[in-house]
This record gives sequence, C-alpha cells and structure tokens, in this order.
Amino acid sequence: MKSTHAAAALIASLSFAALLSPALADGDVAAGKNLFNQCRACHQIGPDAQNSVGPVLNGVVGRKAGQYPGYNYSDANKGSGLTWDEATLTEYITNPKAKVPGTKMVFPGIKQPERVANLIAFLATIKADGSGAE
Ligand code: HEC
Repeated sequence: MKSTHAAAALIASLSFAALLSPALADGDVAAGKNLFNQCRACHQIGPDAQNSVGPVLNGVVGRKAGQYPGYNYSDANKGSGLTWDEATLTEYITNPKAKVPGTKMVFPGIKQPERVANLIAFLATIKADGSGAE
C-alpha cells in the first residue's frame, strides 16, 4: 500500500517537473543559436565577450538580474529582484518592457513561444566562462 502511494507520488512529481521545464526539454539549440543573431547587436557571448549596449549573456540562465560585472544596468533591472530562470526569461524575451517596466533594453520581444524556448535552450548551453558559445 505504502509503496503504491510512493510510486504514485513519484510519477506525479515527475510529470510536474516535465510541465515546469518545457523549454529545456523541447528547445532546439541550433535554431536558438540562429535566433540569437537578433540579440548580437547588443549582447556578446563567448570567452572574450565584453559588455556593449547590453551586458554579456554568458551563463545568464540561472543568474540574478543586474549582476554582470562592469555593466551599468538600469535601476529597473537591478532592482527587479528577478532570477533569470526559464519561466522568467520566457516572459522577459517575449515582452521585455512588460516584465521589467523601465528596462533600457530596447527590444520589442519575440512573440512565438517555440522560438523563445529554442533561444533559452541555446542560452542554457553557454557557461559562465563563455564556453559552449561557439
Ligand atoms: C537593442 C539592444 C538590445 C537587443 C537587440 C537585445 N537586448 Fe537584451 N539587453 C539590452 C540592454 C540595454 C539590457 C540592460 C537592461 C537594463 O539594464 O535595464 C539588456 C538586458 C538583457 C537581459 C538581462 C541581463 C542581466 O544580466 O540582468 C537579458 C536576459 C537579455 N537582455 C536578453 C536578450 C536576448 C535573449 C535578446 C535577443 C532576443 C536581447 N536581449 C536583445 C539590450 C538589448
């Protein structure tokens, strides 16, 4: 009886986890890399990346907002209290100004959920030291 309950709970939590992370499970990294060309005008990635119009995005998935060294963030971003996990990034990339009112990221957003998921899957492959960005 007990083990049946445990198994049911395990199955329930596994499917819950699957619901929570559709982007990394389903995202197409190669397609996401292509989409990142829309971000490159303002964001660099890779071992030699430098802050430019926007901050370096190495290791951004899981990073707290407003933390990349040497970048002059808006108060809106720095004070947002956000952590760039998948759910938060999904909302931000879809509509930056709605998620962080007052952000100085001048980008209208990507409206297609599948594209956003692919982009985040790509971003998640880039480590904090910039490896994986090639
Ligand atoms: C026109 C320039 C521009 C483009 C294009 C752009 N960004 Fe940004 N981005 C910025 C600026 C400027 C900031 C800093 C925002 C602030 O401080 O309010 C920023 C901030 C961010 C942050 C927050 C980083 C942190 O450390 O808190 C993320 C994540 C981000 N951008 C992702 C993207 C992605 C993904 C794309 C492509 C889909 C993109 N940006 C396109 C200018 C841009």
